[in-house]
Amino acid sequence: MSIEKVRLYDELARQLAALIKGERDLVANSANMAALIYHGLPELNWAGFYFARQQELVLGPFQGKPACVRIPWGNGVCGTAAARGAAIIVPDVHEFPGHIACDPDSRSELVVPLIANNRVLGVLDIDSPVPGRFDEEDRAGCERLIAIFLTHQLRWPEAFA
Ligand code: SME
Repeated sequence: MSIEKVRLYDELARQLAALIKGERDLVANSANMAALIYHGLPELNWAGFYFARQQELVLGPFQGKPACVRIPWGNGVCGTAAARGAAIIVPDVHEFPGHIACDPDSRSELVVPLIANNRVLGVLDIDSPVPGRFDEEDRAGCERLIAIFLTHQLRWPEAFA
């Protein structure tokens, strides 16, 4: 573990907890989390959410260029991570069969599912123009941020309804 990355995710975790504290709205909180990640992590060109709606993922709050709105379950990196219920690190998107290219600048990608009570509620997708940008520390860091977000958001019955 590099000390710098641990410190960076520590700081993001602290800021996320402060940003969402006392606010129950899913759109507001996920929008602020996307902005926090996009501006807080270096070398990103997209950061945001897709939420599970029936058998597909639908675009949620994000930062970056406009993106495809609906991704069928099991398709692309996002749909594959959702179907597996596990994070996927893609060092080179050109090597991932079925990758959905929303922004041609994206070269590497990390997708982490949002899971509660064995249900996949959506995914966090972060993209970079730099090949091999994401590693296991980023996966662990993003899983930590998602845990803070979900613990907070699931206190209210309307979350992810
Ligand atoms: N890259 C994703 C599609 C979403 S965009 O990158 C914002 C995928 O293949 O699932």
